Amino acid sequence: MTSAKKTVVVTGATGSQGGGVVDALLAAGKRNVRTITRKSTSKKAKDLATRGVEVVEGDLGDTASLIKAFTGADELFLVTDIKSADQSYDGELQQGKNAVDAAKEAGIGFVIFSSLEDIPADAKEGLPTLHDGRKVTHFESKAAVAEYVANSGLPYTLLLTSAFYDNMLNFVFYQKQPDGTYAFSDNLGTEPHSWHSAGTIGLTAAAVLEDPQKFHGKTVPVVGERISYPAIAQVLSDITGKTIRYHPVSDEQMAGMPFPGAADIANMFHYYREWAHYDDLRPITNPVVQGPTFKDWAEAHSDAFKKRLESV
Ligand SMILES: NC(=O)c1ccc[n+]([C@@H]2O[C@H](COP(=O)([O-])OP(=O)(O)OC[C@H]3O[C@@H](n4cnc5c(N)ncnc54)[C@H](OP(=O)(O)O)[C@@H]3O)[C@@H](O)[C@H]2O)c1
Repeated sequence: MTSAKKTVVVTGATGSQGGGVVDALLAAGKRNVRTITRKSTSKKAKDLATRGVEVVEGDLGDTASLIKAFTGADELFLVTDIKSADQSYDGELQQGKNAVDAAKEAGIGFVIFSSLEDIPADAKEGLPTLHDGRKVTHFESKAAVAEYVANSGLPYTLLLTSAFYDNMLNFVFYQKQPDGTYAFSDNLGTEPHSWHSAGTIGLTAAAVLEDPQKFHGKTVPVVGERISYPAIAQVLSDITGKTIRYHPVSDEQMAGMPFPGAADIANMFHYYREWAHYDDLRPITNPVVQGPTFKDWAEAHSDAFKKRLESV
């Protein structure tokens, strides 16, 4: 007997965003979920298979592998990743083009692309130019993929994401201070900013798939909470019982940090910090999905935060 359920392919499912989408789709239980990974033998890929997800090997850099992986599916949640594209604009754009071309070839009927906005022209003028001639490379490449999706002829929705709460658990570098407190640093500054969890990306994608016609051609903001780093640090202090503080650093200090794409990230935070109209792009009235506050999300992950600090 053939299944009446649609099949949705989720990229990046072993990571934060795609992982959040898989969680939401499995919880809804209305679709067969297929994921692509470069390594089906990884622990995360095996965990997905254990949960009933079809795991297929594929690479966003290899269109033929994507056509194979997408064949027989109805819908695609696409997230590209500049990290595996040598931090390059062209590389991330190519990932998006490969996926869209493969989706057309394989007969996919609806695409959700997880995007970020292009930087407004006046903001671009105020930012230092990066070594590749860009201002915030991973935003500009996302915007270029979004344009490619929009011009592809495929029915589509763009999600407009912000900073992930999950970064506070997975990416932020906490430093233990001589007095036993903890500190973390970047150049975003102390004013409130838009944040949400990867889980809210998933719930928003699932809501879009419930009514694709309603959302076709639209950009849907993913909405959590506008919150400042000092407020985030206070929540984390409360749930871990440790004192955690945010120490802002200069744009130059951030750009010089020893990780790939640091200058790109420094310009992103500079942009987030300096251009108030940025928030106009993220209307928080009547969101398609209202995600949890940072406090609610962090409380649900309190054990993980305690373990994280213990490992510092
Ligand atoms: N962190 C934030 O606050 C934030 C905010 C907005 C947007 N973003 C964007 O989110 C994206 C990263 O998402 P994430 O944080 O969810 O990722 P992540 O946790 O770093 O995981 C990366 C995911 O992408 C997959 N992947 C990477 N390169 C691939 C390739 N060439 N072919 C197939 N799959 C590939 C990996 O799968 P395998 O390793 O299993 O192959 C993994 O599932 C980036 O584009 C970033 O710009 C991040």
